[in-house]
Amino acid sequence: MTRMSARLQHLAVLSFAAVHLLLGFICPVSSRIYRTNDAVVIEVDDVKPPLSPSAMRNFGNPPTNPMMYAVNPYTGLMSQPYPNFPFWPYPPYPLYKPASSFSDADDVTATSPESRQENIACGKGPDAPPQRKTPTVGIVGGSDAVENSWPFIVGLRWGFDVGCGGSIISPTRILTAAHCVDRLSAFDISTMVVSLGMHTQGNLPKPEPQNDAQMTRRVTRVVYHPSYNAKTVHFDIAVLTVEPPIVYSAAISPVCLPPFNNATDQFVGKDAAIMGWGTLESGAKVQPNVLQQATVQIIPNKDCNAQYKGVIIRQQLCASAPGKDSCQGDSGGPLVVQAKAGSTEWTQVGVVSYGRGCAVPDFAGVYASVAFFRNWIDTYMKD
Ligand code: ARG
Repeated sequence: MTRMSARLQHLAVLSFAAVHLLLGFICPVSSRIYRTNDAVVIEVDDVKPPLSPSAMRNFGNPPTNPMMYAVNPYTGLMSQPYPNFPFWPYPPYPLYKPASSFSDADDVTATSPESRQENIACGKGPDAPPQRKTPTVGIVGGSDAVENSWPFIVGLRWGFDVGCGGSIISPTRILTAAHCVDRLSAFDISTMVVSLGMHTQGNLPKPEPQNDAQMTRRVTRVVYHPSYNAKTVHFDIAVLTVEPPIVYSAAISPVCLPPFNNATDQFVGKDAAIMGWGTLESGAKVQPNVLQQATVQIIPNKDCNAQYKGVIIRQQLCASAPGKDSCQGDSGGPLVVQAKAGSTEWTQVGVVSYGRGCAVPDFAGVYASVAFFRNWIDTYMKD
């Protein structure tokens, strides 16, 4: 190495260090990112209350002040997911400015005390899975959901479009996929919005009709499984803590969770509903404005392994139906079945994880098994 280039390299390293030191000073870290034996935890403090409900509903929390300077060191940024890169749902920053004004939906926080919520039954939803023969509109091959008929679905937003789905599992917890949150910095989390009781996401380029979320919440803690692997997309599960506690209503209530069971094929052959604001086909640039739903069937893990060359393990399950699938932007959302005979109650058995394209014949959608992770989820539902 010549002396010149050695000096240049030295300079580069020094200035890199100096810039980061400086950033550390002017942007004190008000978050903690740490790893326990069974979780990566990102906690964010001082997330400021939103400026106005309508602004928050659509554009996220205002950046905290001072700005947080923390990135997640546990992230495998260079890893190449297999077999299909899970869609990267995050819009570029900074956050957008409102293009028009948005109507204010009533936040019912003041009217129903949290203590009454214990009595709210989980798993409310339509009486039956979406018709298989409905005209093909979206998720892939789905149809518009009846407004607020799936009270447990939530949209996770960093910008206009819903980047990922999630489900309400308690007044303070949202279940989603690890790949939706594992690369977020504390700053990203502070700008994130959970939209509840929403039918129309009010996205661009067709912001009309407008976002109709009945409630929004900010995220104060992200916990995802430390064995999450972006290459194999194994252990794709995460629990978010939201504040203040969600107030349940006709349009907002939790999904039921199955008991812990690490056996494969527990729900094989069952019709399962999927729902989300994800794309209507693989690689589509535009996401639908209103919530889409479809019915798929849970297939044996053995069959799924034949499709995916043996990468499917017992903490995953697969579901498919001709022309129907979840797709990019549906990730983290629920796959639900009516598990109890004689009951219309909906139980979440899967979390949308990945797939080779969307609705590709002979490639099912792959879901994280909620029954497999039930004990893990319970651990991170406690405070
Ligand atoms: N990984 C996608 C996302 O981030 C979900 C893809 C689901 N794909 C499927 N074919 N079911 O939104």
